[in-house]
Amino acid sequence: MQLGLDVFWVLVVVTASGVSAQATVTSTQAVSLPTARPSDAFNVPADFPSVGFELAFLPGYNNNFSDNLVASLAQRMGVKPVLRIGGTSGDIIKYNPNQTEATHCVKEPCNSAAEFILGLSYFNALKQRFKTAKASIQAPFDPIHGTTPPNRTNVIAYVQNAYNALGADRVDAIALGNEVNWYEPDAASYVKDAQAAKDTINSVLSIGDSPIWEVLDTASEGIKGENPAPYTVKDAFDAGVNTDQKVEYVAEHYYQFDGKTPGIQKYLLNHTDLKVKMGKYKPSIDYTTNTAKARFILSETGGPLGVSDDRQTWFANTLWAVNFQMYAMSMGVSRVSLVQRPEAKRSLWIPSAGLLVPGPRVQAPYYALPFMADFLGKSVSGERGVVNIDLNSPVLSAYTMFEGPTLARIAVVNLREYDGTGNRSAVKVRLNNLGTVSGNKVQVGRLHADAGTAAGGWDMNQKNITWGGQQWSYEADQGKGHGVATKKNIQVTDGSAEVVLPDSEAMIMYLK
Ligand SMILES: *[C@@H]1O[C@H](CO)[C@@H](O)[C@H](O)[C@H]1NC(C)=O
Ligand SMILES: *[C@@H]1O[C@H](CO)[C@@H](O)[C@H](O)[C@H]1NC(C)=O
Ligand SMILES: *[C@@H]1O[C@H](CO)[C@@H](O)[C@H](O)[C@H]1NC(C)=O
Ligand SMILES: *[C@@H]1O[C@H](CO)[C@@H](O)[C@H](O)[C@H]1NC(C)=O
Ligand SMILES: *[C@@H]1O[C@H](CO)[C@@H](O)[C@H](O)[C@H]1NC(C)=O
Ligand SMILES: *[C@@H]1O[C@H](CO)[C@@H](O)[C@H](O)[C@H]1NC(C)=O
Repeated sequence: MQLGLDVFWVLVVVTASGVSAQATVTSTQAVSLPTARPSDAFNVPADFPSVGFELAFLPGYNNNFSDNLVASLAQRMGVKPVLRIGGTSGDIIKYNPNQTEATHCVKEPCNSAAEFILGLSYFNALKQRFKTAKASIQAPFDPIHGTTPPNRTNVIAYVQNAYNALGADRVDAIALGNEVNWYEPDAASYVKDAQAAKDTINSVLSIGDSPIWEVLDTASEGIKGENPAPYTVKDAFDAGVNTDQKVEYVAEHYYQFDGKTPGIQKYLLNHTDLKVKMGKYKPSIDYTTNTAKARFILSETGGPLGVSDDRQTWFANTLWAVNFQMYAMSMGVSRVSLVQRPEAKRSLWIPSAGLLVPGPRVQAPYYALPFMADFLGKSVSGERGVVNIDLNSPVLSAYTMFEGPTLARIAVVNLREYDGTGNRSAVKVRLNNLGTVSGNKVQVGRLHADAGTAAGGWDMNQKNITWGGQQWSYEADQGKGHGVATKKNIQVTDGSAEVVLPDSEAMIMYLK
């Protein structure tokens, strides 16, 4: 069937300001959509997208701007998002109730591996902010001073104060240690310390009967076959981590690459590399969901672990983040937390001024959050079901979202790098098997930047990024979001629709 669209060799993308950018179609990709919900479609939970805060740095986010950005995400979701408050700094914190500062860094360098002493005001951020969200908190295992058993005083100080500050209904989970494979030599030793931490927490809090523990939080390096070698999820369950039947989540961490080498196409915009690395998580995901009957989450994630080239933190990181999250959910991952702290270049936003990274500002990867929320859908009829449609391409990926038996949304990501110079190419994507669609039309929203991977967004470098026509900025809206939500109508003929997808762009097609 000819769709009569062959004259559309040049797509004119009209941006919010009316400025247009052109992309030339140089190839066509057919996408054969499943005609019925596949039996293995993963029922991804509504609270999949998540913001991660490195634990000792939470007070840096105690402001309206940060609250607004979390609320902007929450309002697009059907349930409250879950903030992950954890990390290495949280494993070694101490507490001094007489300290007036929220946090005191014991010695430089004050990064995520530094020792901090917390004061009572640390917990204000949990009490006063982020009412639109729940949180996962963390029991410190104190690997520096010896872990057997975890220091009772510190476990109580953090968990009890954080739990009470949030209120029981906003506590989603309590993590038992962080990246424990760095310091627990085997599963038995971890389970022994986890049990001691559970006993300590149970002695001071009534946590109820529902599953609440998050276990392992295994370091990314270990899963990918580097040091430290992890023990498997099965090892931990065999050693008795779930004897109380209250393990809610098994968590592991994921960084796409170390960030030491410049390279956008090779490391960030490389679907083949993503598939290879995520493949290493499959045994953990399968054991957790099929045998342990718990949820598997990636509780600390990022594109580059460090940053050797600022371009790694711009729009390429946004495109990496949406592709990574959709691929992860198609494999059975229940949540992804994108990690940040105020001075990390790859953060979702920089909360204030006077830091190593200029701020306050929204950074490019933030745009991945509203995109993911919209792919999940807020008002969903029936169970969600997400499926990866393998296009066998290193730069093009596609995913479908079912609601119950019905295909509701399709996302396509074009990872070919367009860095803002020269001519922009585009792929004409032909989606087949759409069936009968109301009004013979579907709608498309675009995650777009005129400057491609050179865009950091308005606050970062005045090169705008838009998701469905909308933007987030400190300067323009204090994180509340602005711009008119825009979707474009696309004709469906005999169950097929064609969309021109420029390089370095992602889109969601809405069928209803
Ligand atoms: C970029 O976004 C800012 C903030 O919304 C806006 O003022 C500006 O006009 C936009 N520029 C372009 C070229 O769209
Ligand atoms: C923060 O938000 C609150 C509630 O909306 C408002 O009352 C307060 O003035 C805001 N503070 C600043 C510094 O903008
Ligand atoms: C446990 O932590 C407390 C408070 O931070 C500290 O005073 C104490 O010495 C620690 N105990 C051990 C055995 O390290
Ligand atoms: C805090 O102050 C109280 C009252 O002065 C004192 O008894 C207690 O030892 C102090 N605690 C710490 C950890 O310094
Ligand atoms: C993408 O990653 C794969 C697997 O790691 C690698 O073999 C390939 O060379 C990478 N592609 C580019 C363009 O660097
Ligand atoms: C870009 O496109 C224009 C118009 O089609 C063409 O004349 C020019 O040669 C192209 N430039 C490059 C570098 O391909």
